[in-house]
Amino acid sequence: MFLVTDPYTLKEHLRKLLGTDNSLGLVPTMGALHDGHLELVKRSVHENALTVVSIFVNPLQFNNPDDLTKYPRTLDEDCAMLEAVGCDIVFAPSAEEMYANPPRLKLDFGDLERVMEGAFRPGHFNGVGIVVARLFNMVQPARAYFGQKDWQQVAVVRRLIEDLSFPIELVACPTVREADGLAMSSRNRRLSDHEREIAPLIHRTLQEAKHQLQSGISIQKVKQLVSGKFARQPEFALEYFEIADATTLQPLDALPPEGKTALCVAAQLGAVRLIDNVVF
Ligand code: PAJ
Repeated sequence: MFLVTDPYTLKEHLRKLLGTDNSLGLVPTMGALHDGHLELVKRSVHENALTVVSIFVNPLQFNNPDDLTKYPRTLDEDCAMLEAVGCDIVFAPSAEEMYANPPRLKLDFGDLERVMEGAFRPGHFNGVGIVVARLFNMVQPARAYFGQKDWQQVAVVRRLIEDLSFPIELVACPTVREADGLAMSSRNRRLSDHEREIAPLIHRTLQEAKHQLQSGISIQKVKQLVSGKFARQPEFALEYFEIADATTLQPLDALPPEGKTALCVAAQLGAVRLIDNVVF
C-alpha cells in the first residue's frame, strides 16, 4: 500500500498501477476510520482492481470551527486498518495541497440542500460538493463509494455526478451499526461513557417511528411523539426529525402510496452532533 499526499504523486502511482482495462474505486473519507468506513473499502476492493481511499478533514464543509478542531485525526491507525483490508493507495493531502488553488465556485444543490443538514449547516454541501468533485478529478475512479448513514450526502453526490456528467458509478452502502443500534461514526469516540450508553436512543426512536407510521399513525402525531421522547432526555438537544420523500428529501404530509420514505434525525448529545436515518 502507498501513502501519498500530493495530487501529482497520486497521478504517477495511478498511471503505473492502473492498466487500461482495470477498474478503479474511490472511497472518500475524513479518517478516524471505523467498521462503517471499512465496509465501503472492502466493497470497493471486491469490485475493483485498485482502490484509493482518501483521508481529508475538509475545512470547507465544517460550519462549526470547534467541530473542525475537535475532529479526530488518527492517520497511522487508519493506514494500518486500510492495509489490512486490501486498500492500494491512501491519499491524505494537507489542506494546502487540496486547496492550493482556493475554490471560488459555489455549488448550490437547490431543494436538496434547503432541508435537514443543508438547512442546519449552511455551506456544508457546497464544501462536500467541492471536495468530492476535486477528488473525482484527481483520482478519476470508475466507482465511488458512499454510506447511506449520510443519506442526504448520497443524494447530493448523485446530483453532482448527474449534473456535471462525471463518468462515475455511485455505490451507496448500508449503514453499519454497533450491536446496540448506534450508527458507527468517527464522532462517537468523543462521547462520554454515559452519553455512549444513552446514544442508541436515536436509532431506537427511528425504529419506533417507522413502526408507528406503518401502523397508520399520522406524520404529525409521530413527529410529536419523537419530539416528546427527546425532550424527556435532557442530555439530548434534538435539531430536527424529518419524515421525507427518500429521493427528493422534501418533507411529507402523508406517507406516499409508493416510493420510499426517509426518517432522518440530527441531535446534539453533549458536545457531539449525531445524525442517523432509516429508509423504508
Ligand atoms: P466521513 O464522515 O469520514 O465518511 C466517509 C464515508 O463513510 C461516507 O460516505 C459516510 O457516509 C460513510 N460512513 C460513515 N459512517 C458509516 C456507517 N456507520 N455505515 C456506513 N457508512 C458510513 O462523509 C464524509 O466523511 C465526508 O463528507 C466526505 C464524503 C469524505 C467529503 O469530505
